[in-house]
Amino acid sequence: MKLKIISTFAAIALLTSVHTMAQKTLADATKGKFLFGVAVSMQQVNGANPIESGLIAKEFSAIVPENCMKPQPIQPEENKFFWDDADKFVAFGEKNKQAVTGHCLIWHSQIPRWFFVDESGKNVSPEVLKERMRKHIFAVVGRYKGRIKGWDVVNEAFEDNGKYRNSKFFQILGKDFIKYAFQFAHEADPNAELYYNDYNVETPAKCDGIVGLVKELKASGCRIDAVGSQSHMHMKSPSLDAIETSFKKLKAAGVHILITEWDISILPSPYDGANISSNFAYSKEMDPYRDGVPDSVQQIWNKRMLDVFNIFLKYDDVVDRVTVWGLSDAGTWLNGFPIRGRKDYPVFFDRDYKRKPVVDQMIKMASKYKSLK
Ligand code: XIL
Repeated sequence: MKLKIISTFAAIALLTSVHTMAQKTLADATKGKFLFGVAVSMQQVNGANPIESGLIAKEFSAIVPENCMKPQPIQPEENKFFWDDADKFVAFGEKNKQAVTGHCLIWHSQIPRWFFVDESGKNVSPEVLKERMRKHIFAVVGRYKGRIKGWDVVNEAFEDNGKYRNSKFFQILGKDFIKYAFQFAHEADPNAELYYNDYNVETPAKCDGIVGLVKELKASGCRIDAVGSQSHMHMKSPSLDAIETSFKKLKAAGVHILITEWDISILPSPYDGANISSNFAYSKEMDPYRDGVPDSVQQIWNKRMLDVFNIFLKYDDVVDRVTVWGLSDAGTWLNGFPIRGRKDYPVFFDRDYKRKPVVDQMIKMASKYKSLK
């Protein structure tokens, strides 16, 4: 009888611990180290699929809007702001007690044409563009003042070779457009953190360019809290060394680091960047896993995830947030980029919204890690 009671207790204890393991999330496991975030779409905010909204609320401690706060959706016409989606997005994060990031104020993509031209279609003067930037930033940042933890102030101002991207902002205002954006954002919400965000931050020349910018911004008295490394990764690139080197350089420049758009494409790629206007022709060879990922390939992806995650943990003294760009393989933007119509498998939930087994390993890894914070 006694034995039976003991074994019943043991079984309950075991079940409870298995249950707790299964219930534990990456957000729990990384608590005190960094926030663990996800990019969310409006369908998810609106609860079109309650499973998705439920997972976002449960598994993550931070959110960022996948599209609704970008210049095009939020100010499609001059002085005509569309707030409905962004309002709902921010309220969604507050309801779930998540840290809310704003993405993004100034970017060469997903920005309406009116921003740069006058009625005759000619480029506006530097003064006019600066004033449009000021109005845009004051309106957007001002509306959510005190409710947004930090803003991606400028997105993708560098080319991979470390030179400034020849965007309309750069053509009209020169590199000072970046400084203006940071100044306006700070004036609009002095307590918000401010970030510079880019892809391929691991590319040495680009990283050096960004470090130079950070130093210039600081020297001119601007607030900059962190550099966001988008981290749209592939199976082999960037190398682990390159990731670590970029972290060392940023840390030495006195800024924190955010992993802002993490995903690891499992597919062959014709292009290593993330400039969203890039597009390549579809072919079957470039879409090899339509019917599923072979186990051998899945193992390589799992190991790559763990290796990269290990570096994030190793630098947790300066890494403040790791955000994955999308909840599930069903909705990932990589199904359409840089080749349309493929099937990619780059994030943590599969097409049936099941959490991938590698997440349990990441949770174990994070739980064991002694924080440097
Ligand atoms: C992507 C979104 O995921 C897509 O839905 C949209 O069609 C294009 O933009 N870098 C960024 C993100 O900073 O805003 C981009 O998001 C992906 C690349």
